Amino acid sequence: MLRDDALSGRVALITGGGSGLGLSMAERFLALGARVALLGRSGERLARAMARLSGSDRVSAHAADVRDPAAVDAAVAEAFARHGAVDIVVNNAAGNFLAPSEDLSANAFDAVVRTVLHGTFHVTQAVARRWIAAGRGGSVLNILTTYAWTGSAFVLPSAAAKAGVLALTRSLAVEWADYGIRVNAIAPGPFPTEGAWQRLLPTAELEQASLARIPAGRFGEHRELAELAAFLVCDAAPYITGECVTIDGGGWLAAGGLFNGLTRMPRPELKAKLAALRPTKPQPPA
Ligand code: COA
Repeated sequence: MLRDDALSGRVALITGGGSGLGLSMAERFLALGARVALLGRSGERLARAMARLSGSDRVSAHAADVRDPAAVDAAVAEAFARHGAVDIVVNNAAGNFLAPSEDLSANAFDAVVRTVLHGTFHVTQAVARRWIAAGRGGSVLNILTTYAWTGSAFVLPSAAAKAGVLALTRSLAVEWADYGIRVNAIAPGPFPTEGAWQRLLPTAELEQASLARIPAGRFGEHRELAELAAFLVCDAAPYITGECVTIDGGGWLAAGGLFNGLTRMPRPELKAKLAALRPTKPQPPA
């Protein structure tokens, strides 16, 4: 839906950009004319992504673990030097796995929270400090998940960290509006990626159960999320800040409403049952 030059002249730094949704956003941003700096922990994964995006001299790769503020600052400095500027930050890097909370080690909790919450802070601050010093604005987009506000069993560190990123999004949207910095978020439901499927929906049974909870009857497509991301960071949305846009086919709402489970019954059968429950009107005396 966006014009082919919607991101022309813009530089987007995407964390976790070497695979999955990060790489899909990178591809879409490039197609819309952006320059892209991929930031990722694994040099190997970044190299594979660079090979896939081959032919574009508008893309660069920067290795850093988002948990390490010094490494992040060095990678951000590299991206600014390589492209002359950074205009957009997408905090997409994440860590997650299914585990009973009572069995989590302190290090397991730490690994996820430091990646998701601290990592988002480190990258956002490293870029924004440069924007503020240069007297210019920019756009930050944080990739959340719908359980950022509902919480979720068996992914406690991720739920706690994503809730923190939602608070960070809204806090900074207000604090940095004066600098011309917009901060928004996207909360996706399940979008198939190798990383997420391997960790969160590793069996056909779990995948089927996840699918059954989505009123739209399907998982998300990468191009749908990439388009929404591009819209939120481009010049078409200059007045949107502090917003979190959900993209989940109605999934989280369906899980919450008390009677939403009824949608799983074939509609004619449901209608017949409801009609049978309806009290008959008393007939007026003849
Ligand atoms: N259940 C319980 N604990 C787990 C676990 C699991 N499935 N996977 C890892 N851990 C624990 C480890 O045992 C370790 O704790 P310990 O030192 O007390 O034993 C701790 O988490 C850190 O794991 P480790 O593999 O050493 O750290 P890492 O920094 O390499 O990994 C993770 C970070 C755990 C977040 C890893 O899943 C990762 O790298 N994820 C990145 C990709 C990703 O998750 N994307 C999100 C897709 S939805």
